[in-house]
Amino acid sequence: MERLYTQQLDVGYAESLIVKNLNLAVPTGKITALVGSNGSGKSTILKTMARLMKPKAGTVLLDGKTIHEQPTKEVAKQLAILPQNPTAPEGLTVFELISYGRFPHQKRFSLTREDREVIQWAIRVTGMEAFSDRPVDQLSGGQRQRAWIAMALAQQTDILFLDEPTTFLDMAHQLEVLQLLHKLNREEGRTIVMVVHDLNHASRYAHHIVAIKSGTVVSEGSPQQVMTKEVLREVFGIEADILYDPRTGVPLCLPFALAASREHGHAAPPETGEPAEIADGTVPLTSAT
Ligand SMILES: Nc1ncnc2c1ncn2[C@@H]1O[C@H](COP(=O)(O)OP(=O)(O)OP(=O)(O)O)[C@@H](O)[C@H]1O
Ligand SMILES: [Mg+2]
Repeated sequence: MERLYTQQLDVGYAESLIVKNLNLAVPTGKITALVGSNGSGKSTILKTMARLMKPKAGTVLLDGKTIHEQPTKEVAKQLAILPQNPTAPEGLTVFELISYGRFPHQKRFSLTREDREVIQWAIRVTGMEAFSDRPVDQLSGGQRQRAWIAMALAQQTDILFLDEPTTFLDMAHQLEVLQLLHKLNREEGRTIVMVVHDLNHASRYAHHIVAIKSGTVVSEGSPQQVMTKEVLREVFGIEADILYDPRTGVPLCLPFALAASREHGHAAPPETGEPAEIADGTVPLTSAT
């Protein structure tokens, strides 16, 4: 039995209904990737499952209890969330931001020795040592992203939600974050749910992929089950070749055209054979003479 799942969840903003009748179970002790186009409802789902948004109907259950009926602090001991566009109060330092992550564990207002040790660990594993006294609003996009990840880690929860944790990061820092999440999952059995746009990252790092379109689940399962031409066409409106990672055997995708449903008068290039002109009329570099 999974610890966290939704039952017939409807979520929306004002009059609009974004998520419809969602029944989603988060595999305990696994890494789940939520994928889907811009505006498909991924952040809305994540926020509702983390109790930041109230559903219009249905329930989110954590350990058998309705999450929206439990106190913030109780939920925050079990579940941490890194929202997509978090903002910090002006002038707040990285250390102060990360120390907010200790809030659910605090009995007094001051930090205990244990709190400080956890904060230092979070600073170390996110590579933020050089920035801990800097104001968050004076960091680069990637540094700021890592500061927020550190705050979520400092909360030391069994369940970790991250909305696009690798956005703004260069390739090395993307890998660093993904490997850290992988390690927390493997060595400490943490349950991780992350929204990612890079499908190849989803395939490499997630055990379970959930593909969302218009607020509903189109496909879910292992990378082998979800990373198919048909699902990519349906969910993203793209045509892609599926290759297999020589290191791990997981399916990877190489998009080559928009699906017919999204084309605007351009013919798709051939699926195989010699590289042809790409749809916008430019010639791929590899075939340049
Ligand atoms: N505060 C809001 N008020 C009204 N509509 C909203 C609000 N936030 C999001 N929406 C709408 O809800 C829909 C789903 O948004 P959501 O942020 O969940 O998408 P997403 O899948 O996370 O997209 P992205 O990949 O761009 O982050 C979109 O159509 C969006 O315009
Ligand atoms: Mg989003």
